[in-house]
Amino acid sequence: MSENLIAHSQTVNIKRRSAIKNQRPIVIWLTGLSGAGKSSIANALELALCDAGRHTYLLDGDNVRLGLCQDLGFSDADRVENIRRISEVAKLFTDAGLIVITAFISPFIRDRALARDVIGEESFIEVFIDTPLSECERRDPKGLYKKAREGLIKNFTGIDSSYEPPLSPHIRINTLEDDLEAAAQRIIDFINKQQSK
Ligand code: ADX
Repeated sequence: MSENLIAHSQTVNIKRRSAIKNQRPIVIWLTGLSGAGKSSIANALELALCDAGRHTYLLDGDNVRLGLCQDLGFSDADRVENIRRISEVAKLFTDAGLIVITAFISPFIRDRALARDVIGEESFIEVFIDTPLSECERRDPKGLYKKAREGLIKNFTGIDSSYEPPLSPHIRINTLEDDLEAAAQRIIDFINKQQSK
């Protein structure tokens, strides 16, 4: 980190930016295997929030890796850096007053804890998209599991790179039971309940 940096206090702050949007900014952090349904649920969730007049932004794995994180691969170190950058961006977007949804495998417990610390515990909701590996592999929407099994992709999560499931997520979605809309609704119900306290 560079030295001699002093954070500047801005007159228009998170309070002002969220008041104007009439909402409490939070980060809804989706984690799960590739093919678990994170992007689809995130998409349905953002649509439902938008329909309800909320101001949102969705950060999605593949899209972010095509831009901000295009220099990163899938080694453990690169995944750690990927999640670190996403955490900081999510933090900035909450500072802008937005409800942020993130959809990344984010395979390591330690890095999700770091994300929670960067964003702030009171604004961080961890959602485990709990789809068994066998089902993700059966769906294989991008054909990546097949390639990983054939040895054409290295360090593939669930095959030769590990995934550490959350031990106590705020919400656990079983995609074998809930469809997209039901999953999105469960998350919205949780937020409404939490914010009415
Ligand atoms: S993370 O581990 O750093 O959180 P991220 O969510 O950004 O991963 O990216 C995962 C997406 O990248 C997958 O949905 C898949 O489309 C693609 N991908 C390509 N190679 C791999 C790999 N080796 N392991 C996992 N996903 C991969």
